[in-house]
Amino acid sequence: MILKNIDNPLIKKIHNNLTKFGYIKVSNLIKKKYVNQLLCQLKQIHKSGVVNKGLPERDSKDLRVNNLAKRSKIFCDLVSDPQIEKILKPILNDKYYRFLPPSVPNYILGGFNGRSSGNKLDLHIDSCMPYLGNYRSSMLVLFVLEKMSDINGATIIVPKSHLSGTYTDRKTKKIKIINAFPGDVLFLDARTWHGTTENKTNSSRWLITSAFYAWWMKQQVDFPRSIPKKILKKLSNKQKQILGFCSIPPISEEDRINIKCGYEVLK
Ligand SMILES: [Fe+2]
Repeated sequence: MILKNIDNPLIKKIHNNLTKFGYIKVSNLIKKKYVNQLLCQLKQIHKSGVVNKGLPERDSKDLRVNNLAKRSKIFCDLVSDPQIEKILKPILNDKYYRFLPPSVPNYILGGFNGRSSGNKLDLHIDSCMPYLGNYRSSMLVLFVLEKMSDINGATIIVPKSHLSGTYTDRKTKKIKIINAFPGDVLFLDARTWHGTTENKTNSSRWLITSAFYAWWMKQQVDFPRSIPKKILKKLSNKQKQILGFCSIPPISEEDRINIKCGYEVLK
């Protein structure tokens, strides 16, 4: 297990803050030895060279390692950590999914990248569309691996903006800068307006961003087809499900007519 135990009072607090403010920072949640492991691996992978085809000009100064699921099993273990499941299952599980028991996740990984800020990242939402109401289709979980503050590309948030039902107002003054330390984890309703400050230092500020979606949303990359066999064979059915294996559209009606499927599809 990569994360420390989250007890019931903390689960309640996280859910309450997400409902009320659209985000919460949980301090010191990643076990120290794993903070170092994740950071070393990210830096190593980045150093060995990565391809980010179509990277927008605004992100050209970022350091990026996209699609972490295909890089190493430790990243797959991170997004399927039982502590993350405790928080996300009550929010994202579709109770009408039925092809899997309610005791296991039926939500999927939407995006999974390592990023060290370069230019500032303008306010945006990651829910694909703004909407009002208590239903949440998507969540963000950000794993902080290096100290972040105003000067080195900290995450910025507009509290309660998940309740606006609108796209961002980039001129808003209601921005909160999130100062955080290695090992902290941020949970966000994906409707919450967020971005980063500019990194004005010459040092990196690595953070792992993960997005989790309801099973019917489109993933940012095709995780199931991009994960190498050597990692795949070490993953449990639950991990494969979280990576999107039970959300793959059938090739044709002769393959399957249901877009929902349980672990059967993994056989
Ligand atoms: Fe984002």
